[in-house]
Amino acid sequence: MTLRKLIAGNWKMHGSLSVLTEIDTIAAAAKGRDVDVAICPPFTLIARATGRGVAIGAQDCHAAAKGAHTGCVSAAMLVEAGAAYCIVGHSERRADNFETDADVKAKADAVIGAGMTAILCVGETVEQRRAGQAVEVVEAQLAGSLPASRDNLAIAYEPVWAIGTGLVPSNADVAEMHAAIRAVVGPDVRILYGGSVKPSNAAELLHVANVDGALVGGASLTAADFVPIIEAVSVR
Ligand code: PGA
Repeated sequence: MTLRKLIAGNWKMHGSLSVLTEIDTIAAAAKGRDVDVAICPPFTLIARATGRGVAIGAQDCHAAAKGAHTGCVSAAMLVEAGAAYCIVGHSERRADNFETDADVKAKADAVIGAGMTAILCVGETVEQRRAGQAVEVVEAQLAGSLPASRDNLAIAYEPVWAIGTGLVPSNADVAEMHAAIRAVVGPDVRILYGGSVKPSNAAELLHVANVDGALVGGASLTAADFVPIIEAVSVR
């Protein structure tokens, strides 16, 4: 079975009101294509980014519904702002904010409970890959962080060493990891690849077995880079 592919852009801490027109160009190019497209801008841009013809997502949320958590945003608040997706467990949050697998699970449950789709990120460090532990590390992350529901869930396999570096794993390594993830999550959960996805490598990566889309950082910031990645879904 082939799952409809999802191409999601993670703007990280980039973007401003003045570049939201990029989303209009992306929407025009994605219209009518057999692919789901989402852009995850910073929190402050979510409400202004909606209604442009591309699904909008957040990059993180708090696991609790409300409370004394200064500086945090709940899943329900994101839904109210117009978000349909929320990334959880990105390696930058695991590193910068010390998020554990248990934290990530709680966030994923909150995201799905609020009616959004969770994009749950997993991936090994370069040391772990060199030590031959990549698959077991990712399996452990999944064991600790998968939400209760498999509905409205996507997994993003993002090797930490491939993020923002221009390095990508071989097709064989991507296929091996995605098959291992598939064995855990079952046939209906989309498994995205992320880490240095560019117009030049997107078609190849998107046609590796069990790759159901991409989570794109740097190359999602402009329509000029992101649109060819969306178009690569239909390149054979
Ligand atoms: P990159 O980032 O495409 O810039 O490597 C991917 C990500 O961190 O989601």
